[in-house]
Amino acid sequence: MDNRAIGVFDSGLGGLTAVRRLHALMPDEDIIYFGDTGRVPYGTRGRDTIIKYARQDVAFLRQFDLKAIIIACNTVSSVALDLLGHENDIPIIGTVEPACRRAMTMTQNGKVGVIGTAATVRSGAYERYLHHADGSLTLYTQPCPLFVPLVENGRVQRGDVVIETVVAEYLAPLKEAGVDTLILGCTHYPLLEGVIGDFMGPDVTLIDSGAEAANLASTQFDPAGGPGKTRYFVSDDPDGFDQLAGLFLQEQIDVGAGLVDISSY
Ligand code: DGL
Repeated sequence: MDNRAIGVFDSGLGGLTAVRRLHALMPDEDIIYFGDTGRVPYGTRGRDTIIKYARQDVAFLRQFDLKAIIIACNTVSSVALDLLGHENDIPIIGTVEPACRRAMTMTQNGKVGVIGTAATVRSGAYERYLHHADGSLTLYTQPCPLFVPLVENGRVQRGDVVIETVVAEYLAPLKEAGVDTLILGCTHYPLLEGVIGDFMGPDVTLIDSGAEAANLASTQFDPAGGPGKTRYFVSDDPDGFDQLAGLFLQEQIDVGAGLVDISSY
């Protein structure tokens, strides 16, 4: 039994999709969540800035007694997973590998789509992993830079003409290419599962990268004895975070996020 907490971080609210899966799979675990709401989005930024922010996020979390950290952010996982792994003496789990592994088990026609932030797509991390693991796969990647701001503003519902228009614009090439598996390579995107699923059609399997990271984490270390408690921290506007967190967690809870000056780490 290992009662140390699991640290989880993202640029904002998106990483809560991983926390939701952790709550389902590992209800006895203590979780410390950090969302960098003062500096979201990360996906439009350059590599050096993403690395700097990720190091500060980890430094904040490492003040707590942790058994592992989940990078519930594809942008950081794509750019800085190896670096953070080398710099830390606890397991650091990212999203790219578990999402790819799931996609490989699901695809029937070998055509896999990957959508993510501009930085994630630019990094080539998904292509590297998938081509190395299975050279016969055909990959189609598409950056979707408007998704994160729309999701952070709660524009996620079916029937919302703004999000439906943007989804159609970004995903039309992937639909035309005939992908049968689509990796949601950003932890904000599972909130758009309904709209994306409607557009792509019922024969396309959507892969939730944050949930896959949580699935992997649940197999990696000794469980805690419970009862699990989750504490939330953000770098700006805790009230705004509290209001939208229920949408991501799909449960109404008293989040009570604490405010952190992340630039001091
Ligand atoms: N949710 C994040 C990801 O998985 C980051 C989104 C952003 O900050 O641009 O990539």
